[in-house]
Amino acid sequence: MVLGTSGDVVSRAKEMFVEAQWTPAMSTGVPDLDHQHKVLIAHLNRLTQAMSEGRGPEQLDETLDFLQLYAAKHFADEESDMAAWHCPAAEENKRAHAEFIDRFGLLRAEVRAAGATDGAVARTAYALSTWLVLHIQGCDTQLRACIRQQPCDAVEADQVEA
Ligand SMILES: [Fe+2]
Ligand SMILES: [Fe+2]
Repeated sequence: MVLGTSGDVVSRAKEMFVEAQWTPAMSTGVPDLDHQHKVLIAHLNRLTQAMSEGRGPEQLDETLDFLQLYAAKHFADEESDMAAWHCPAAEENKRAHAEFIDRFGLLRAEVRAAGATDGAVARTAYALSTWLVLHIQGCDTQLRACIRQQPCDAVEADQVEA
């Protein structure tokens, strides 16, 4: 298993997604980035909703297509903001994004090979949501402190939260 799952993944995925909500504690201090995080979470929630309605397999490809494009744009925006604010987490963030892209590719290949079964949908939803929430909390939110601590010419003051 590429992203790591075990046990009753279907019920774990459902539980996880019920709780996978963006909260102010996940703020990066940049409204655009926070909006992108909310969109990513919403799309993963849509996949779980489809799964609970028995439409998971038919929704899976659409969700993965969207995530592949949207995550690439989000990663580029976020890396640019972290560099602009001289965030100490910038390199760690870049590495994590590159690792995610690699793992995402392997996950897609695995789903293609095995077919979009309910189990594959549950494992995918669980793995992606877990990674996303933990990554936002552990890495992306480090940007918030940088914005508070130092002025930056590269980003207009009205683009960040006080
Ligand atoms: Fe990130
Ligand atoms: Fe992010």
